[in-house]
Amino acid sequence: MYGSSNSRQLSAMLVELLQDQCPDCSVTYKDLARDPIAHLTQDVYLAYRRPEDELTPQQRSEKAVTDAHIEQLLASDLVVIGAPLYNLSIPTQLKAWIDRISQPRRTFRYVERGIVGLVSNVRVIIASSRGGLYSLSEEGRAKDFQERYLVTALKLLGISDIDIVRVEGVNMNAERRAEAHAKAQAAAQEIVAAILATRSQWQRDALV
Ligand SMILES: Cc1cc2nc3c(=O)[nH]c(=O)nc-3n(C[C@H](O)[C@H](O)[C@H](O)COP(=O)(O)O)c2cc1C
Repeated sequence: MYGSSNSRQLSAMLVELLQDQCPDCSVTYKDLARDPIAHLTQDVYLAYRRPEDELTPQQRSEKAVTDAHIEQLLASDLVVIGAPLYNLSIPTQLKAWIDRISQPRRTFRYVERGIVGLVSNVRVIIASSRGGLYSLSEEGRAKDFQERYLVTALKLLGISDIDIVRVEGVNMNAERRAEAHAKAQAAAQEIVAAILATRSQWQRDALV
């Protein structure tokens, strides 16, 4: 089933390119479909909003899970996110990850004029796949709550270096799908080369 996934194909291609050109970079694979993160609940939410000594055992355990996802993100130089478009947005499994990593005082904080992100030195490449076409028209872009949401949510956490490699129109016909993948491959090569040109700034492990 996974063999036909366009976003998996894209993210795997990106990681392969990165590894080819950066053999000493280490990769951690995180599969949110096979190992789903429990969705946001009041215990997950309150774990970061109550004093430590007031947390229930359940909240403590949820906090430990959340902490692990945050530590993994903060220890990464580069995150490749496979993001299919589902019903105009991202899959709920990916949203569950965003809900975990978006925590006050760890990845963002409130200031007078709103919110400031606390995640620095992490780059992201979004491997986006879409059945239809969205990027080519004003009307299509207005319906984009997938890439636009992801970019906005990540920027809010302070992640500003975000590239998108996209295949769209993949469910329209075989020619369009093939063309989209060929274009994405070329774009991925350019993006990876540009990122690795700044390799001297890479000091830690890469997370995929
Ligand atoms: C549950 C579901 C919802 C989808 N919703 C949309 C949609 O709103 N718009 C669209 O263009 N394609 C939609 N698609 C098509 C997917 O975006 C497309 O098949 C994409 O390649 C899925 O990623 P994958 O190939 O990695 O599985 C949907 C597919 C599924 C399974």
